[in-house]
Amino acid sequence: MSTPRARNPSTEALLAIAVEAARQAGEILEKCAHAGFRVKHKNVINLVTDADCRAEQRIIDVIQKAFPSHRILAEERGLTQRSHSPYQWVIDPLDGTTNFAHGFPAFCVSIGVEHGGRGLIGVVFDPTRDELFTARRGKGAFLNDRPISVSAVNQLDRALLVTGFAYNIRETPNNNLDHFVRFALKTQGLRRTGTAALDLCYVASGRFDGFWEVALNPWDMAAGVVILEEAGGKVTNFKGETHSIYGRELVASNGRVHQAMLDVLQQNRSLM
Ligand code: IPD
Ligand code: CA
Ligand code: CA
Repeated sequence: MSTPRARNPSTEALLAIAVEAARQAGEILEKCAHAGFRVKHKNVINLVTDADCRAEQRIIDVIQKAFPSHRILAEERGLTQRSHSPYQWVIDPLDGTTNFAHGFPAFCVSIGVEHGGRGLIGVVFDPTRDELFTARRGKGAFLNDRPISVSAVNQLDRALLVTGFAYNIRETPNNNLDHFVRFALKTQGLRRTGTAALDLCYVASGRFDGFWEVALNPWDMAAGVVILEEAGGKVTNFKGETHSIYGRELVASNGRVHQAMLDVLQQNRSLM
């Protein structure tokens, strides 16, 4: 790790650095969770802790040491490297900050790498459970080195879905409450874990059958989308069109309940 890597690094080299950075950040989060941390408010319900910032700094340090020319988009820092490199790292150092701040053990580190705007690598690390989700485009998805795949559930009545709510829930009518109510009446169960990156990985590993949100950010989705697609899952916007991590909405599923999910989301839209 001491010398900068080649101009066109292998996906193995990229993955190794992403895993190293995620594990080091996870260790910082665990230490802060035990030792204590400061909390600041971005708005009345949107928090940031010094654990977020310390973990993010460590991830950036690890990446810049290995790949100094790569672009980095990180939640707390924004775009730190304005180079013309085709590689962009997209980082959420602590996905699930509200859980973390309350001592609720559902949070993770999420690191994605894009090449030419396309997701290439995804790493999501849950330090509480020591669960490492990884994927390289075209090479499958893994949980702690074991291959994972989406579930076979093919109807909403049998499906366990998950969603989340954005921090502007009090400020916009597009607050997901309409979708939440309708899905609650059509599925076997609904969950809200508070960590979108893990939600995507849990769909990828068959623990959930589908996930939607109305307003996510690129760092919530960059890693998880690669992991989900490599596990055989499907990701679109609410119209069933090509998904972009730079668009806000996301529907992610095992593929088998995808159309049924889109139908519910579009029913609500037609009521607006
Ligand atoms: C949040 C979580 C949550 C989702 C929010 C995100 P943060 O990220 O992923 O599950 O519902 O939309 O903003 O703030 O904990 O990194
Ligand atoms: Ca997040
Ligand atoms: Ca975060």
